Amino acid sequence: MRPLIALLLFIAAGACTLSVSTPRSFENYSVYKVFIKTRSDQQVIDQLLEQTNNYNLWHRRLHEVHIMVSPSARKNFLRIMQKENIVVELLINNVQKLIDEQG
Ligand SMILES: *[C@@H]1O[C@H](CO)[C@@H](O)[C@H](O)[C@H]1NC(C)=O
Repeated sequence: MRPLIALLLFIAAGACTLSVSTPRSFENYSVYKVFIKTRSDQQVIDQLLEQTNNYNLWHRRLHEVHIMVSPSARKNFLRIMQKENIVVELLINNVQKLIDEQG
């Protein structure tokens, strides 16, 4: 087998493993609307979004983002928002419940 093909297969296998490790259930995952007033607010949010296992961007507008927060990150998220004076609004308390209701 040519080395490049072997490498591509290796990467593809890795990607499969990754997708298996993403949570199967969204139990207690919540979605927050975050009001972005300043550039620094935006930076705070962008930094959080780098933690892809805890934060997922759902929707982005100029002065507003919707992000899904993992149950383990929720407390820390709210603490940071309070500290940075960023206004948030809870949109969905339990994403899994919503999925179940729609299924
Ligand atoms: C979700 O939250 C409820 C209420 O706090 C708790 O009883 C339950 O164990 C949590 N589920 C998971 C999977 O963490």
